[in-house]
Amino acid sequence: MKKVQSIRIENLTKSFGSGDSFVSVIDGASFTVNKGELIALVAPSGAGKTTLLMMIGCVVDPTSGQIWLGEEKVYDNHWLTNNSRQIRREKIGFIFQAHYLIPFLNVIENVTLVPQTNKIPTKEANAHAMELLKYFDIADKAYNKPSQLSGGQNQRVAIARALANNPEIILADEPTAALDTERSISVVKMLKKIAAEQNVAIIMVTHDERMLEYCDRVMKIEAKKIVFE
Ligand SMILES: Nc1ncnc2c1ncn2[C@@H]1O[C@H](COP(=O)(O)OP(=O)(O)OP(=O)(O)O)[C@@H](O)[C@H]1O
Ligand SMILES: [Mg+2]
Repeated sequence: MKKVQSIRIENLTKSFGSGDSFVSVIDGASFTVNKGELIALVAPSGAGKTTLLMMIGCVVDPTSGQIWLGEEKVYDNHWLTNNSRQIRREKIGFIFQAHYLIPFLNVIENVTLVPQTNKIPTKEANAHAMELLKYFDIADKAYNKPSQLSGGQNQRVAIARALANNPEIILADEPTAALDTERSISVVKMLKKIAAEQNVAIIMVTHDERMLEYCDRVMKIEAKKIVFE
């Protein structure tokens, strides 16, 4: 398949603080992730994995460098848009270690929250959410609260939620950390399927070596830069 750039990073740097509290986390990272790829991001605790994802997700401000999301250059030493929240809502789906579902909303309400914010009509948002829930084999839980679901089921709902706005990019920060091996593998296989079938670029942080074989490439943070294995 033809390689089409989904995330491109050039010479990205990120530091926190100044003076005695100055820490340089990322220093001169450059890489490209293509549409349809599932990338594992592996590095020791504190190496900057979450920081990197949050910069790609337009949540954390880089210190300098350039970021493209799809064809669009969004950062060039400063954000090129005054509405990074909109970019985030339109292009990006997030999955976290904890599912962060809203406890007082039922499953389908959780999944349709972002599309509703994006002004998708309720009927359309519900139909799409139901499709996703069927895809993840949890449609029968659509009207249950997260507290009535297992950890693995909630994580599948969280993945459905991340997909609800048809993102071009999914950023997953240790999505399987709270799951046993069997359920972890099933979640990673699902992400792989989404990447391939829906041409989505996915970066997944993981500490679990067993997940690497399901990913297309393994990306590491070494000496504050990105290297591929
Ligand atoms: N808001 C902040 N202010 C100051 N330092 C920060 C801030 N956020 C992160 N850091 C520092 O940046 C470094 C990278 O943190 P980050 O959370 O990205 O690491 P990580 O690779 O995701 O680690 P883990 O595997 O433990 O989740 C750490 O040294 C952390 O202390
Ligand atoms: Mg982290």
